[in-house]
Amino acid sequence: MRSHKVAVIGGDGIGPEVVEAGCRVLDAIAADDGGFGFAFEHFDWGSDYYRKHGRMMPEDGLQQLEGFNAIYFGSVGDPNLPDDVTLWGLRLAICQGFDQYANVRPTRLLPGIGGPLRPDLGAQIDWVIVRENSEGEYAGVGGRAHRGLPIEVGMDVAVFTRAGVERIARFACDLARSRPRRHLTIVTKSNAQRHGMVFWDDICRTVIRDYPDVTVDWMLVDAMTQRMVLKPGTIDTVLATNLHADILSDLAAALAGSLGIGATANIDPSRKRPSMFEPIHGSAFDITGKGIANPLGAFWTATMMLDHLGETRAAERLMQAIETVTSRGDTLSPDLGGRATTAEVTDAVIGAITGANA
Ligand code: IPM
Ligand code: MG
Repeated sequence: MRSHKVAVIGGDGIGPEVVEAGCRVLDAIAADDGGFGFAFEHFDWGSDYYRKHGRMMPEDGLQQLEGFNAIYFGSVGDPNLPDDVTLWGLRLAICQGFDQYANVRPTRLLPGIGGPLRPDLGAQIDWVIVRENSEGEYAGVGGRAHRGLPIEVGMDVAVFTRAGVERIARFACDLARSRPRRHLTIVTKSNAQRHGMVFWDDICRTVIRDYPDVTVDWMLVDAMTQRMVLKPGTIDTVLATNLHADILSDLAAALAGSLGIGATANIDPSRKRPSMFEPIHGSAFDITGKGIANPLGAFWTATMMLDHLGETRAAERLMQAIETVTSRGDTLSPDLGGRATTAEVTDAVIGAITGANA
């Protein structure tokens, strides 16, 4: 039997609640499949860990994670700690340390979920956003000087490297090629940012020559927001920089009905190091501990992890089970207008998995 070693980092807020639910669902789908299983190991890293130890994860945290086949992550962020400390101390430290340079964010309006768009437009949303995840505006390069003086300065430098842009452009082209429409939209802002963004365009233009079977169009990031709202059906795979994709993916999640549903994979396509899978929602301290967090984002995320681990059949079945529950509409959490608890939604999805096989 195939056994997948998965590191589980619940993190902060509702993170631990939704990944716990996700582990239950993953165990259920594995048991039902019969061909594989999970060895989960839990890590209590995050803001509480920081309060005890002065850091978000141990110094050798990355080494501890190295041997796993995947990382299943909840969320990070605490109202009482600075966000840049918690993020750079854990999530970004893992993404960058493991060179998970491809961040993948699928968006679809799941059956039964009503988004803010007119229904005929909402139904056209079927996108995957590919976010450059290792450099760009998040490179962490910059500095502060003249602190406290009137001439004080703060700078964040967006870094685009030939290797960095080329590898993410290839990844996006490969992904576009694997989807039925074989269409890629490359997002840029080279009309205003005439160094890094023009370089980004140049390299993308070279890479797409190797993919004559993928149709490509280009959008300035500001115009892209309009196109997502007004002509969602013209979009399929999207490639954008770290910051642009960060913003576009929040818009995508809103158009798909709820931030509680979206999924993300932080992938090291070289597979030298574990990739990390997380729901896109944050730690949501306002509902932490109430047992009402929506676990569907963590479940959709789990389907991406299953895919990455080669369990494609189980991934499809879990996605079907999620859609069965959303389309039935009787077991939805409060963020989707329902009254179900995290545990009830989890039980409903597990029921759909086992029922689907009966
Ligand atoms: C995301 C989040 C993070 C990001 C934050 C929490 C730093 O918004 O995953 O989209 O900007 O990368
Ligand atoms: Mg974001």
